[in-house]
Order: sequence, then C-alpha cells, then structure tokens
Amino acid sequence: MVDLKAEFPLQDEVLYLNHAAVAPWPRRTRDAVVAFADQNIRVGARDYPAWLEVEARLRQRLARLIQVAPGEVALLKNTSEGLSVIAQGLDWQPGDRVLISDQEFPSNRIPWQALADRGVEVVEVDVSGEGAEQRVIDAIDEGTRLVSLSSVQYGSGIRLDLAPIGRACRERGVLFCVDAIQSLGAVAFDAGACFADFVVADGHKWMLGPEGLALFYCRPAVRDQLTLRQFGWHMIAAAGDYTRKDWQVAADATRFECGSPNMLATHALDASLSLFEDLGMDRVEAALADRVAHLHQGLAARGAELLSPADPARRAGIVTFRLPGEAPTDTRARLHAGGVVCAERGGGVRLSPHFYTDYSVMDRALALL
Ligand SMILES: Cc1ncc(COP(=O)(O)O)c(C=O)c1O
Repeated sequence: MVDLKAEFPLQDEVLYLNHAAVAPWPRRTRDAVVAFADQNIRVGARDYPAWLEVEARLRQRLARLIQVAPGEVALLKNTSEGLSVIAQGLDWQPGDRVLISDQEFPSNRIPWQALADRGVEVVEVDVSGEGAEQRVIDAIDEGTRLVSLSSVQYGSGIRLDLAPIGRACRERGVLFCVDAIQSLGAVAFDAGACFADFVVADGHKWMLGPEGLALFYCRPAVRDQLTLRQFGWHMIAAAGDYTRKDWQVAADATRFECGSPNMLATHALDASLSLFEDLGMDRVEAALADRVAHLHQGLAARGAELLSPADPARRAGIVTFRLPGEAPTDTRARLHAGGVVCAERGGGVRLSPHFYTDYSVMDRALALL
C-alpha cells in the first residue's frame, strides 16, 4: 500500500496544479537524494558498482514505461538534447521536410528549424479540432523525411492518437519522432504500438523526477541512421577499458551517452518511477483522468471557456481555460495570490493536477475563480 499523503507532504497553502511544468518530488525521491548525498560525504564513490545497479534499474523502469527493451534506452540531459541528437544525426538532403504541429513547445521546433542552412524545411500542421491525425497524414508528401510531434500539446493539452500517424509514416518510409514529455507518467504509452522511431522525454513533469535527466529511445532498426556528434569514454563498446586505443561505438543505446552519467538525478528519477510501478500506470491514468474531468466540470460551472478538448480520449493531464472578461494574465495572478501554482499557456491559464492531487486542492483553486 502506498501512503500518498506521506509521499506528497505539500504545504497546505500550496495548491499545486503545475505538473505540466515542473512537478514536486515524492518523499521517496527526496529520501533517495538525501541518502545519496550522505553516502557521498561518508564514503564518496566507493560503492560505485551499486550506483551502476541503480542506473541499470532506472533504464529498465524507463524501458517498461514505454514498452521497449532496456538496451534501446539512453539517458540524456533533456528533451531538447534528445531531439537535437536526432536532428543533428540524420543525413539531410536539401528539400527534406519535417512536419511538426502548430502548437509545439520550442524544444520540438527549434532543433528542426536549425537545419534550415542544410535546406530542410519545417512545416507546421494545425492539430486543433477534429481530424488532426488525418491532417498530419495528408500533409506527408514526397519530401517529408520525418514527422515530429508532442504526444500531448503543452498549451491546449490536446492528446493525439499517435498510432495512425506512426503507421502512415512507417508505410511511407518516413521517420516518426515523439516528444512524450507531457505523456510519460500521466498516461500509458507504448512506443511500438504507435510506430515510434524516436521517443524523448525529460523526467521533471509527470514522472515526478528532477530536471536534467531524460529518456531517449531510438528504434534499433534506425539507430545506424543517426551519425553521432558527441564522443567520449562512455559511448564505446569497451567502455571500461581505458588503456585500449582502438574503439568501436557501443551497439546499444549507450552510444548516445558520451561521458559520465548524472548519478544524482539517476537516483532521484529511479525513486520517482518506483512509485508508478508500485501503483501501476492504469491506476495512475484513471486517477488523473478523474481529476481532469473534475476540473473541466468545475470550470464549466463557473462559466470558463475551456481551451482543452472536451473529449476525455483527447486529453491527458492538462486543463487550459480562460474566463470571459478577464485576461489570462490576471486570472493566473489571482490564482497565484491564492496559493495556486499554475501557468499561463496556450492563450489561457493551464492547470495540471496529478493522480495524487487531493480534490480539496482543486476545489479551493476553483473557488478562487
Ligand atoms: C512538449 C514539451 N517538450 C519539451 C519540454 C521541455 O524540454 P526540455 O526537457 O528540453 O527542457 C516541455 C516543457 O515544458 C514541453 O512541454
């Protein structure tokens, strides 16, 4: 039995509805970080082999979260780095096109736009309203080399049905890349079922980890298509053999990890993900869906204009709204003054509870409106 009250001892005056930005940690993550710090001051890195076991366990947990093999997962710094590894690694030809949505967070736009000097064109597809998936599929043409989408758009919270898009990409020989940062830890995810070639997500949102450690998945069949741009002792096949002068790139995804791992964040994210495994993603997803529905109802009852989809299948954990007659900046400021941690995004105020959020927290936030 997980004691959620003990795991999330947020102060009473803090109404935390900002998991789509940077999430609070569970207590077990704090405990893991404190234990790691204690170990460092007492015995330093004497027990490094045990740290490597934590790293291996984290890789396994991340692999289970997206339903791939552990050797297919690399641990990188953040989503932007992962997307840049892909953008800088592919062998682009002038005239190649990258499709993204018209609502992407800059992390999933700038790495592609930065390829303009190689003749790569970025095309934005409207994903609002009905038929978003078909519009993306219809936009794929001869020149399209890669489709890169956030599974859930950071502003509106629109959740895309990735499988038909991924299937269409695979059939046409187009690469499919998913920024899953607004999904992982919020909703179940299966990289194979959505035909993803790449999945990237930092751990500091719905996975309840620290900033600066991200999952990077690359489908083995396309791994060799990525030319490596970062090199070091860690990304080679014989990584522990420091005296050997010849080297080969590691066969598995560790080839994308050039040097020393972020062991501090590794301990933290491993602890955070253990919570999801204790609970099960089905339970997490259902609990979050109930909370999102509660916010939708409460906001509608207060006359708010909901900018997030009404269809539960189209949402994950984001609820964005605005109040008639009040600028979102002012609404957010009012909420903030009342203790609500939330964000102004997507033309409105974005609320993002998580599976453990108490209903009283949401009701107190709604009452401020
Ligand atoms: C869709 C999306 N991608 C990426 C990021 C963050 O990227 P990074 O992990 O590089 O900081 C965010 C953060 O808000 C996001 O909403």
